[in-house]
Amino acid sequence: MQLVFATNNQHKLEEVQAMVGTDIELKSLSDINCLEDIPETGETFEANASQKSQFIYNRYQLNCFADDSGLEVDSLNGEPGVYSARYGGTRDSESNLQLVLDKLGDSGMRTARFRTVISLILDGKEHLFEGVAEGEITKEKAGVKGFGYDPIFQPSGYDITFAEMTSEEKNSISHRAKAMHKLIEFLKAAR
Ligand code: IMP
Repeated sequence: MQLVFATNNQHKLEEVQAMVGTDIELKSLSDINCLEDIPETGETFEANASQKSQFIYNRYQLNCFADDSGLEVDSLNGEPGVYSARYGGTRDSESNLQLVLDKLGDSGMRTARFRTVISLILDGKEHLFEGVAEGEITKEKAGVKGFGYDPIFQPSGYDITFAEMTSEEKNSISHRAKAMHKLIEFLKAAR
């Protein structure tokens, strides 16, 4: 079975291909010659993931899925949320995470979560899958692995940040991996 993953991020594609195994062949946006910017104007992860998968399905009539993720900090009313990629005004992760640290200051209320929503369109019908990783925002950065907000996110039950974990460790508890596993179980049952 072939499935389009609406991403141009080769790293994400390989990571997810390894999770789904050899029965499902993933195609990226460039594999299907989709070179345009897909609109992502929703106010929720669900809306954005849906917008991307529906764009691909409407244009190419191919089975496909899209994901959208971000960080939600409780005492910042869920920010940065859908604005995670550009919270500080640019795509620079350093200034994005610094803004979260600055806004929180010395606050003791530091609970947060990463959330991923995947929208799958299979034979024209949409299915949503969610993955959540609960944790808290550290007072300082720690670790150099991973990307985005990883250096300031300490998952519940751990005393290190995502950026201090190996990719295997992070992938065993991450929001994205949890949502992907739900998608994979669904696909296995649907075949
Ligand atoms: P995307 O929807 O997966 O591209 O994620 C949007 C933004 O959320 C990224 O640019 C990051 O800033 C943030 N983000 C999502 N997942 C992670 C993660 O696993 N670690 C750190 N930051 C993340």
